[in-house]
Amino acid sequence: MPTTTRENVLPIEGSGRVLERYDRRIGTILAEDGKLAPADVERVMELQQTTGLRFGEAALRLGLITDDDVRCAVAKQYDLPHLVPGNESISRELVVAYDPFHPRAEELRGLRTQLSMRWSRAEVDHRMLAVVSPGCGEGRSYVAANLAVVFSQLGERTLLIDADLRSPRQHRIFNVPDRIGLTAVLSGRADASAVVPVREFGRLSLLPAGAPPPNPQELLSRPALGAFVREMWSEFEVILFDTPPAKFYADAMNVAFRAGSSVMLARKDHTRLADTTGLVRELSDSGVRVVGTVLNVF
Ligand SMILES: Nc1ncnc2c1ncn2[C@@H]1O[C@H](COP(=O)(O)OP(=O)(O)OP(=O)(O)O)[C@@H](O)[C@H]1O
Ligand SMILES: [Mg+2]
Repeated sequence: MPTTTRENVLPIEGSGRVLERYDRRIGTILAEDGKLAPADVERVMELQQTTGLRFGEAALRLGLITDDDVRCAVAKQYDLPHLVPGNESISRELVVAYDPFHPRAEELRGLRTQLSMRWSRAEVDHRMLAVVSPGCGEGRSYVAANLAVVFSQLGERTLLIDADLRSPRQHRIFNVPDRIGLTAVLSGRADASAVVPVREFGRLSLLPAGAPPPNPQELLSRPALGAFVREMWSEFEVILFDTPPAKFYADAMNVAFRAGSSVMLARKDHTRLADTTGLVRELSDSGVRVVGTVLNVF
């Protein structure tokens, strides 16, 4: 198997920032992936010697690989499960999977770290979190989906539950069927087999919302939710919930109460400060800890 003989430095462009990753194995990874034949690796190394270019840059200049090939190779090197563009069955919104070194992906990993630190300080055995915000379109589903992926990338057995029974969309983000989901579990028509492993991320599973019910709030306040979550603790270390907008539906508070912890989102130039402070107060009055806050800028 061909290998590179000198240390390579790979720049990754993202929003004007250039990150440098030192990499001895990029050539090996590209060759193992069938992106470069042994003769190609030789050509790249010759060009490197004459120009001083980095391995990825040299291979790009020779037209042997694409930017996406380089990104995927770097992601593999850092053990970040990733998706190849072109695999359009899974939404491109999963920036942490498609582009793990994008600044937004770095921010989401920062949020994971913030949460992990606060969780451990509070000595919580099982980590469970509802992603909440007051209004519509503030990014709850986006953040919940990407957070679930970054926890699974850390090796945590992670379950994402789509508890937005009003406007569910996690099944579309992860491209899994949503015929049977949380509503069937809560109404006693399905059991834990409704949880779907997401093949692309070994440690991540999703419980989609399922068929829309006539009585979401009543369903979510049933003891069945707590019983189901307790059952899930034998299989998962982290459980995340997507929720509907808390300002409009009490469902969100029900779910946050069950989770015990929440991450609070506000969308820049969109969410009203009074709504944010009101929701924080309501959460703490109900004994729900706000373990993380996100100002979502998009
Ligand atoms: N940080 C972000 N960067 C880029 N796009 C984002 C970001 N956050 C959210 N979006 C996009 O904004 C749109 C709305 O986000 P999302 O569906 O996650 O919001 P929501 O709060 O779940 O909305 P709803 O009230 O419909 O449940 C989506 O197209 C999503 O991809
Ligand atoms: Mg949503």
